[in-house]
Amino acid sequence: MRSLRTGLSLAALVTGAALLFTAPAAHAADTPLRDLAAAKGKVVGTAVTGSKLTGSYGDIAGAQFGSLTPGNAMKWETVEPTQGSFNWTEADQIVAFAQAHNQQVRGHTLVWHSQNPSWLTNGTWTSAQLSSLLQNHISTEVGRYKGKIAAWDVVNEPFNEDGTYRSTLWYNGLGANYIAQALTWAHAADPAAKLYINDYNVEGVNAKSTALYNLVKSLRAAGVPIDGVGLQAHLILGQVPATLQQNIQRFADLGVDVAITELDVRMALPADSGKLAQQKADFKSVVAACAAVTRCVNITVWGFTDSDSWVPGTFPGYGAATPYDENYAPKPAYYGIAEALGGTTTTPPTGACSATYGVTSQWNTGFTGQVTIACTGTALSSWRASWTYGTGQQLTQAWNATCTQSGAAVTCTNASYNGTVPDGGSVTFGFNASWSGSNPVPVVTLG
Ligand code: XIL
Repeated sequence: MRSLRTGLSLAALVTGAALLFTAPAAHAADTPLRDLAAAKGKVVGTAVTGSKLTGSYGDIAGAQFGSLTPGNAMKWETVEPTQGSFNWTEADQIVAFAQAHNQQVRGHTLVWHSQNPSWLTNGTWTSAQLSSLLQNHISTEVGRYKGKIAAWDVVNEPFNEDGTYRSTLWYNGLGANYIAQALTWAHAADPAAKLYINDYNVEGVNAKSTALYNLVKSLRAAGVPIDGVGLQAHLILGQVPATLQQNIQRFADLGVDVAITELDVRMALPADSGKLAQQKADFKSVVAACAAVTRCVNITVWGFTDSDSWVPGTFPGYGAATPYDENYAPKPAYYGIAEALGGTTTTPPTGACSATYGVTSQWNTGFTGQVTIACTGTALSSWRASWTYGTGQQLTQAWNATCTQSGAAVTCTNASYNGTVPDGGSVTFGFNASWSGSNPVPVVTLG
């Protein structure tokens, strides 16, 4: 039986290694995004799904990001599906993961027109009842996580595109004052949490962002607890608003923080190297705009991997909107974020393929691993990945590749059906192996 301490240090090693040890070896020293951001006084975050926080997904979420936002786990329909009966399972799990990885949590979201439980939306309520339902909801949820949430998206999406108030359960029942009340109740439940209003299509200077600006200004003047503005930033390829930085700055000048809360950049599928290069430029310019304004404190991506993005399900024909592909290989967009945060340029040069080795699970005698081969600006019609194991590391089984181990040398070649790695795409193969003593992560060589 290995000691707990050994297990933890190995887990830490594996966490970093899945990301750090890529081929070509020149990329081996990439600094995690969270560290690049911290050096600039910023926090970089991601939305997450609680049930996925293990294996490579958990490794990347923990290693690369300094802030987590529950994608759905804290919404009203999730936490109170039946009136008076609560389910905090996923929200608790995400908060615990964040604490274990020294991460902030952005609470999302308390007052919204969407993803409310049907008992609430189908009910008939007087405005007094509605008000007390909302106050109870906010007090209960904010109170439960008091001291554990850095910032709450208290009110989500209150405006129409023309800057008028959106017609919702809350606006229709309580009037525009529901916003001030919600902020006041949230502040009472956790005075230390930063309280935000969050919306989309408010990234540039336009009618909707100006309505938000005027609201924040009047809330500040009235002494209502409002600490920040969230710009969701669900963007379309090549359409970063030219006035983004100017807009961030005008909110900052009101004396509130700004966060980019839900960044993704969707493209018409299929992705290709030209689109991925544009996407890199788009991510880079959004992050650079935030980095340029002192009060822009957090940049959060709405899912870090294309396998966990809302885009394909919501915008048919669009996808590939996040910084990692479906196999967890970093895309050019990842390097765009890193470069805007002052990271050295480690993008694979145009016309390169890389191999990334990761341990997806490990137990006392064995482990399961995977290697992802990704190409940008070029393609492969066959491949061979090789590495050298240390003492005690022995491959036992592989899938989606033919692997042999001779002494310490492991060589894997493509199966008949996955030799092709398209430009902008990737292929992953997996394996089981045994280990004893230690289980270091090797550098993988392609070719
Ligand atoms: C999305 C989630 O990502 C999806 O899983 C869910 O089905 C719908 O909601 N603006 C928001 C987020 O504030 O809460 C939304 O999240 C995306 C748009």
